Amino acid sequence: MTGPDSIDAVQEMLDAQGYVCGRALGTVVFLSLRLGRPLFLEGEAGVGKTEIAKALAAGLNRRLIRLQCYEGLDASSAVYEWNFAAQMIAIRTAEAEGNADRDLLQQELFGPDYLIERPLLQAMRPDERGAPVLLIDEIDRTDEPFEAFLLEALSDYQVTIPEIGTIAAPEPPIVIVTSNRTREVHDALKRRCLYHWVEYPDFEREIAILRARAPEAAEALSRDIVAFVQQLRTEDLFKKPGVAETIDWAKCLLALDVIALSPEVIADTLGALLKYQDDIAQLQGSEAARLLDQARAELDRAP
Ligand SMILES: Nc1ncnc2c1ncn2[C@@H]1O[C@H](COP(=O)(O)OP(=O)(O)OP(=O)(O)O)[C@@H](O)[C@H]1O
Ligand SMILES: [Mg+2]
Repeated sequence: MTGPDSIDAVQEMLDAQGYVCGRALGTVVFLSLRLGRPLFLEGEAGVGKTEIAKALAAGLNRRLIRLQCYEGLDASSAVYEWNFAAQMIAIRTAEAEGNADRDLLQQELFGPDYLIERPLLQAMRPDERGAPVLLIDEIDRTDEPFEAFLLEALSDYQVTIPEIGTIAAPEPPIVIVTSNRTREVHDALKRRCLYHWVEYPDFEREIAILRARAPEAAEALSRDIVAFVQQLRTEDLFKKPGVAETIDWAKCLLALDVIALSPEVIADTLGALLKYQDDIAQLQGSEAARLLDQARAELDRAP
């Protein structure tokens, strides 16, 4: 068994890394560690999907290996490549030295010295601290053939390099897969994983996140900030602000020595929260003031 022995212990471990983790997420992380199953996290942008892998690796004292997915990512750049440039130099040197043992040279050229290990292969390697955390980030950016390939790699935790042989992980890595759901990921891959939808945090949790990530902000300002952002998320926006934006905004306000929010300050700093002109335009005029009033009314209603 890997890691903490209860859901509370998981939450405490992540908390110690500055990651505020609700009960539902704590439960699925605990189960994924206990059962050795990959964890599939979906959610809007900036809600802490990538960060949890970092916090988990730090909390468990494991190596973090990240496979950042992108359109066109193929198996070879995810697993291994041959160091073509170094192979060429070795061939030229052998030629210049008149070293004609071709078989030996070929064996050497396709041996460990010329192998560039990419994340999936790195994650199969033994590590004295224990199996690493393998983060497969933003899988929705890749295409279906790559997904199928991943499915295979995740089912037996081994990769085969024709020139070298099969390399199997002594202990399966702790796998976290994230998706922003720009497309549906195939059922077969999801079925292999435990699934969790990462929500925007509620008011109290977002305050706790600010406390952890922007501790310089006074409590009253933090409450103002979070109340406003939460109100903003109820609006019909093209792209709602994530937790990352809340933190950025708090840091901007601190840099400007802002003590309390006002419609003017909000208008001047909206670029930290909203990244689309249409959304920003929607908050022009009296809109920011109206949202701020609503946010403060909610705050007064809160216990
Ligand atoms: N629960 C949390 N506790 C502490 N910090 C958090 C939490 N959630 C988000 N954050 C902060 O928000 C930032 C953004 O989170 P992260 O990059 O993990 O989001 P994401 O869901 O991966 O977004 P994207 O889809 O854009 O990649 C992190 O750097 C972290 O500081
Ligand atoms: Mg991310």
